[in-house]
Amino acid sequence: MSLPDPRPDGAALVTGASSGIGIDLSRELARRGHGLILVARRVERLEEVAAELREEFGIRVDVLPADLSERDGRVDLLERIAGLGLEVDVLLNNAGYGLSGRFIELEAERQEQMVRLNVEAVHHLARAVLPGMVERGAGAVLLLGSIAAFQPLVGMSDYAATKAFVLALGEALHEEVGSKGVTVTTLCPGPVKTEFWEVAGGAKGASAIPVMWQTSDKVAREAVEGLEKGQRVVVPGVPVKAAALGGRWTPRSVLLPLLKRTGM
Ligand SMILES: NC(=O)c1ccc[n+]([C@@H]2O[C@H](COP(=O)([O-])OP(=O)(O)OC[C@H]3O[C@@H](n4cnc5c(N)ncnc54)[C@H](OP(=O)(O)O)[C@@H]3O)[C@@H](O)[C@H]2O)c1
Repeated sequence: MSLPDPRPDGAALVTGASSGIGIDLSRELARRGHGLILVARRVERLEEVAAELREEFGIRVDVLPADLSERDGRVDLLERIAGLGLEVDVLLNNAGYGLSGRFIELEAERQEQMVRLNVEAVHHLARAVLPGMVERGAGAVLLLGSIAAFQPLVGMSDYAATKAFVLALGEALHEEVGSKGVTVTTLCPGPVKTEFWEVAGGAKGASAIPVMWQTSDKVAREAVEGLEKGQRVVVPGVPVKAAALGGRWTPRSVLLPLLKRTGM
């Protein structure tokens, strides 16, 4: 259970590769010699990342723009990958966004799109690539959870719920496919300096504490090292680990009123 070796017909599929953690995850895989399939909506950004990684690491990089919140976009993406004659050896299921605010005051359409991207797309892509990995007896899947996955978040309720889904799925899949030579790791970072916060709105609760913040290169490095070791969950940084433990084990009757005070 580790990262498979790079091979000409195999590739690492990175979603959300146009920004933030996705760029650094792509770099970590490129450094290890893996060919890449980069996916997001902003094609110019993907082309820039691809050119840089081809130049620096001499690897094959395919840019396949797609809106992953749409089922048709995902089906089309999987067909284009098959059309290239590539099999997904590594899936870095990273694309996602958050929304801060009261559940009933956020824009419903954006909330629904977030659920489709953070939940449906993660489910769809994992379901599509895992059978091939199990058949080959090799493969690695990284799911992007969050520290938000360990407890409900007042003021970021549906985002935290999407990440709780990801963590629950990832932990169970780790057990289901682990004995077949395939590793599933869920990465649960605290706040990371990326465009995430421009999309989500201001940092609140534990994310407002400076010591919790990390850089995307460090988070990506720990994530890929975790994949190599076949870890079930990676929570980068000691303060974030402590917050995750608190989130998981503090009684909800104590935690939720506290979160309400800091999160709204
Ligand atoms: N930053 C944090 O503090 C933090 C903490 C914990 C977990 N996370 C998680 O880490 C992951 C990456 O976030 P990030 O911090 O790197 O944020 P980011 O810089 O905003 O990157 C998000 C990526 O997702 C892509 N994306 C958004 N909507 C998409 C769609 N409909 N279809 C395809 N791609 C889409 C974006 O590309 P396009 O806009 O070009 O499509 C972008 O590449 C997310 O799952 C996030 O929930 C982030």
